Amino acid sequence: MSSSSIPNVLTIAGTDPSGGAGVLADLKAFSALGAYGCAVIAALTAQNTRAVSGVHTPPVDFLKRQIDTLFEDVRIDSVKLGMLGTADIVRTVADRLAHFKPAHVVLDPVMVAKSGDHLLAKSAVAMLKEALMPQANMITPNLPEAGVLLEQRAPESTKEMFRAAERLRELLPTSSERWVLLKGGHLPGNELLDLLFDGDRMIEMRTMRIDTPNTHGTGCTLSSAIAALLPQRSAQLQPVAAAVRDAQHYLQGAIAASGALKVGTGHGPVHHFYRLWRA
Ligand SMILES: Nc1ncnc2c1ncn2[C@@H]1O[C@H](COP(=O)(O)OP(=O)(O)OP(=O)(O)O)[C@@H](O)[C@H]1O
Ligand SMILES: [Mg+2]
Repeated sequence: MSSSSIPNVLTIAGTDPSGGAGVLADLKAFSALGAYGCAVIAALTAQNTRAVSGVHTPPVDFLKRQIDTLFEDVRIDSVKLGMLGTADIVRTVADRLAHFKPAHVVLDPVMVAKSGDHLLAKSAVAMLKEALMPQANMITPNLPEAGVLLEQRAPESTKEMFRAAERLRELLPTSSERWVLLKGGHLPGNELLDLLFDGDRMIEMRTMRIDTPNTHGTGCTLSSAIAALLPQRSAQLQPVAAAVRDAQHYLQGAIAASGALKVGTGHGPVHHFYRLWRA
């Protein structure tokens, strides 16, 4: 991709009909950040802002057909992976990414929804670590997901977060540049810490917690924003850190503006288009 052209960014994830999380949120984040959005549906959920009431997954042959048909025609510059649901789906996505080798892969290892509902089969975790994580340029676990990946309890302090970020990096290939973004949103307190670590540089990203119930899909939105920005920050001195910082900044604005939307009675969505609609 030349640095002046618009990147084509693909999400492979599940749908959330309330539009705050999953594929629909991913497409909104891509669109808000100057990327052209494509989507392959790995799962359907029946969901609102309060709960997930059902999950339906496509046959893996059809999932493969969605991916192959898209890649045969469209230049994909960056991929975000979200809810994948089952070990078979994880294996299929891993196989097709190994074949098409997109330049950027951001893996959000979605396991549990904000409502507490489980979104990834236990048997899929091993497949995620074995087949998919080796192909990701970045993984973006929250603290409970970090615990599952590391087979230990979730980090409960900033000190434990630093150690977990180091151990998570050990799950990724050592031979090339790979990043862990460990999200600390689940720790109590007014100051939020996310850690960005590549095995060498440990970058601390601190923000103030915004007092709002509207945090549905913050993780989806952040990983999608990063996937959209990575191809657009490649000319910078520290492209990955720049993409993550700009994605965080975008998300903070979207959370802060979420009160303008009236969607549901649970954890409402963030306002993906707060910059555009202001004008
Ligand atoms: N109330 C808040 N105010 C400001 N930033 C927040 C708030 N809640 C979450 N964030 C930020 O949003 C990002 C996503 O963090 P979070 O811990 O919510 O991820 P997640 O648990 O994967 O989210 P999701 O439930 O959507 O999957 C992090 O960068 C975190 O710091
Ligand atoms: Mg998440």
